Amino acid sequence: MPGFQSLDEEVSRRQLSVEGEIPDWLSGTLVRNGPAKFEGGSERVTHWFDGLAMVRAYEFADGEVRYTNRFLRTESYEEAMAGRPTGQFATGERGLQKLFGWLGRLGPPEPTDNANVHVARLDGEYVALTEVPRWTRFDETLDTRGEFVFRDLLEYDMITAHLVEDPQGGHVGHGLSFGRTHEYRLFRIPEGTSRREEIAAIPTDAPAYIHSIGVSENHLVLVETPLRIDVLSALSPFTEGFFDLLEFDYSRDTTFYVVSRETGEIVTETTAPPFFTFHIVNAFDDGDRESDDVIVDLVAFDDDRIVGALALAELDESGFAGAPPGRLVRYRLAADGEVTARRLYDGGIELPTVPRPRRTRRHRYVYGQATDREGANGLVKVDTERERANENWERDLYIEEPRMVQRPGSGQEDDGVVLAPALDVAAERSVLLCLDATTLSERGRAYLPHPIPFGFHGRFFDD
Ligand SMILES: [Fe+2]
Repeated sequence: MPGFQSLDEEVSRRQLSVEGEIPDWLSGTLVRNGPAKFEGGSERVTHWFDGLAMVRAYEFADGEVRYTNRFLRTESYEEAMAGRPTGQFATGERGLQKLFGWLGRLGPPEPTDNANVHVARLDGEYVALTEVPRWTRFDETLDTRGEFVFRDLLEYDMITAHLVEDPQGGHVGHGLSFGRTHEYRLFRIPEGTSRREEIAAIPTDAPAYIHSIGVSENHLVLVETPLRIDVLSALSPFTEGFFDLLEFDYSRDTTFYVVSRETGEIVTETTAPPFFTFHIVNAFDDGDRESDDVIVDLVAFDDDRIVGALALAELDESGFAGAPPGRLVRYRLAADGEVTARRLYDGGIELPTVPRPRRTRRHRYVYGQATDREGANGLVKVDTERERANENWERDLYIEEPRMVQRPGSGQEDDGVVLAPALDVAAERSVLLCLDATTLSERGRAYLPHPIPFGFHGRFFDD
């Protein structure tokens, strides 16, 4: 499938031809990240998550779109260009031994710098993010500017690529440190700094793979699923990659830790039947401040089969058809520990987002990929209040992560557009879709100069 074929061409500020219209008020840049090269020499990486990072920028002004794409010039990139792919999620043992070598006192950790998961703007700079603490800076032309270094003394072995932008300013995230006691670490990065301030450290006997957390105005929600990292196996010479270290322990429940942002204390620790999740959509407080329930919307999978289904051997063979569906579920976590779950949408959904002004606050709408269409990935808008959904999809069109952009000055949550790149696998052509965020009807599409491999996450940055 062309979505998993390498793209070599790089272009700079290419003006795209537009069919339909892009609204004049749309001003800013959608910056996205994702893998775009899957080989080093003749060797193909084994997992989608191991492709080389390429950042892509879509600049909007006066109804026009300009497009730039650039590989990050990292050590991983140089190695791959020299014929040596350096995966870390699933590919090859070299990367893994680098990551976990310190456990055997073999030397300092040197994880991959292939930051292909997400982007953020920290302390005035664009940063490409991944789940090990080697992030890469780049400028507005997408030129690589070297490694991003936090100006603090905290040391984490893993860190989230999903920093949550806090409407109160700054970002909130989480990390993981291994040791005699393994700990989840929750932190904030104050606005205009590159310094983490730790909010809480939560010890665990068997650390889970946690891809994102929930952040409300007053609380953080850490969802510890039964997908555990077998830290000791990291020392085995037979371990091939991070993927090999993950094991879904069916004997465990999923635990929710609700942490006060103000005090760092765990205010509620409670469990639900097991599931796996990559993506927390949003969280918000519901009730008076003293006895808030915390609401968490997330995309839940029955178990960890989704991780294996995203291996390139599977994707090359059957695309996303073998991937089990994620379900949009709302968890209500009461202060007394009671948990209730409600499914909000019956279809499969992934890469979910809420409008930026609603993050950490009560939201009504969730936008995401509709994943269970045969021969396509559609787009879905879920109305969580009325439990209804709009969908937009067409055959052969695989839509990537949608980002909703509100019309400036509008107080209406879904007044604006939804932006998402999409790949027409029959025509082997990529477009950028601009949809009406209220109705999901198409307003315009811009044609890209080449088919772009499927990416992961991005953000819209206002000018
Ligand atoms: Fe993600």
